[in-house]
Amino acid sequence: MKPISIGICGLGTVGYGSFTVLAKNSAEISRRTGLEIVVSHIATRRIKEGQDVGDVKVSADVFAVAEDPDVDIVLELIGGYDTARELVLRAIANGKHVVTANKALIAVHGNEIFSAAKKKNVVVAYEAAVAGGIPIIKAIREGLSANHIQWLAGIINGTGNFILTEMKEKSSEFSAVLKQAQDLGYAEADPTFDVEGIDAAHKLTILASIAFGIPLQFDKAYTEGISKVTIEDIRYAGELGYRIKHLGIARKSEKGIELRVHPTLISQDNLIANVNGVMNAVMVQGDAVGPTLFYGAGAGAQPTASAVVADVIDVARTLSHPENAIPALAFQEGSLSDISVLPISEIISEYYLRIMARDKAGVLADITEILGDFSINIEAVIQKEPRDHDAHQLLSVIILTDEIQESIMDEAIEKIEALGAVGGKVARIRMDKLED
Ligand code: HSE
Repeated sequence: MKPISIGICGLGTVGYGSFTVLAKNSAEISRRTGLEIVVSHIATRRIKEGQDVGDVKVSADVFAVAEDPDVDIVLELIGGYDTARELVLRAIANGKHVVTANKALIAVHGNEIFSAAKKKNVVVAYEAAVAGGIPIIKAIREGLSANHIQWLAGIINGTGNFILTEMKEKSSEFSAVLKQAQDLGYAEADPTFDVEGIDAAHKLTILASIAFGIPLQFDKAYTEGISKVTIEDIRYAGELGYRIKHLGIARKSEKGIELRVHPTLISQDNLIANVNGVMNAVMVQGDAVGPTLFYGAGAGAQPTASAVVADVIDVARTLSHPENAIPALAFQEGSLSDISVLPISEIISEYYLRIMARDKAGVLADITEILGDFSINIEAVIQKEPRDHDAHQLLSVIILTDEIQESIMDEAIEKIEALGAVGGKVARIRMDKLED
């Protein structure tokens, strides 16, 4: 077979990382595949200092790669939505296979892209879009394909996990830690994508589709960031035996699919509670296999390149038999389920509540009475004394509750916030046992 020719669009962290892994490991890749894979065309506005691409053809225009008749597989590593979408659709129209690391593109435009690819009988592979170097797409689509997936939960944004870890371990300020993550090259171009959970929701949308066989529905994902989590919340949760992690949770129930990203209290005994720094981890529960846990680097040049190049190898292997390619969303196109994604008001959860209340008699009784009126059972309470006994000073009342539907908790919180002795908004963090 003639060498398989790769065109790389975008020579940033992931693009150059992929170029170097392909070059460095070419002999090992040939030994595994029996194929020769060569980079023949790169599109980048400029070759940066320290980058060496040898005598590979370089264009400034990414569409030159999509139009190049010699290129078999286009690597879309430019990121973003619009140009990336146009580039991928152009490559598909020209009969080229595509490998992308772009989670936003797949989460938002994936249905359109996969449908176009199916018509042209080409593959669009996206392992690097979720959890960087962890082969979680392959694990769910192939390794766990015998199972009904019941739920999955993941730490799928390294920047957010790094921030929560540093806040806990060093009592560092949120903004200082974010700056550190940006300097290390983990954060998105717009860091609100990391901090507000949008990046994690992109990845969760993809995982839910391949786990449950549903179309990609990013617009239905509930997204809540970590910017309101305080060092005190992390400390109080610790006193009660919990860690706060920014989790993406997808769960299938009889009512529908839960698709939600938010800070979550999980028992500190759970393995995923101990995933720290920029590391990612995804737990997947299948009916046959039970709980499984996948751990690794979720970002960075070489780990992400590991996933990009693995996709290149997969596509290269299926080039001679495209009809054997794994369906893009794991299930046959006509077999996707129309089960609905539930609004957040319909989920059932336990809750951590932090209520700022005046230090006077009867406040706690008023709060517990409201919870009792809504049949919300209390699991634990801690009341933090203010430093001096000033009746005007607010003290923190921390309550852990039993399971209750979110809409009922919304009503109870509204009533608690309306109490004269309660100041400001009630901080609410959902809890998860990460069990059935
Ligand atoms: N900004 C992302 C993260 C990069 O922090 O996880 C990898 O998708």
